[in-house]
Amino acid sequence: MDPKASRRFFLHKAAASIGLAISAPAIAMLVSACERDEVTPKPPTGTTVTFDVTTAPELAIVGGITLTFVEGLNGGSPVFISRIALNTFAVFSSVCTHAACEVSLPSAPGENCICGCHRSMFSSKDGSVVQQPITGRATDLPRFASTFNSTTNILTITA
Ligand code: FES
Repeated sequence: MDPKASRRFFLHKAAASIGLAISAPAIAMLVSACERDEVTPKPPTGTTVTFDVTTAPELAIVGGITLTFVEGLNGGSPVFISRIALNTFAVFSSVCTHAACEVSLPSAPGENCICGCHRSMFSSKDGSVVQQPITGRATDLPRFASTFNSTTNILTITA
């Protein structure tokens, strides 16, 4: 065999071997990383989290509603917090029960929360279904129990 062809053959085989050796662990690491990302830890039932109501100006009035992330609640998805009375709040998921799109904030106080994917509507007071989607069925948005301390303005939410 021609020495240049032999060297080229050797280098080609060596590069292929190194590439295989490097890519196998790299693939294993990527798979492992992806598996970790897919698991969103949810706190066990009964865990409580807190939310400072003063951080959401929309909640200063009865009928106000906000869409926010609360760490440790709803698997990392935002929740609606609605002030339904002076010292009473409703907390419910923003994940549509029809096909998991994110439900939007009402455009004005007192209006319903709308899912833009298939036009479901949910009450801004408690997340109950007001209008079913154009196809299929939705159920009420999951609600989280909460208690409000009017002295500290802290809402304690059970996850
Ligand atoms: S995902 Fe919300 S209506 Fe379909």
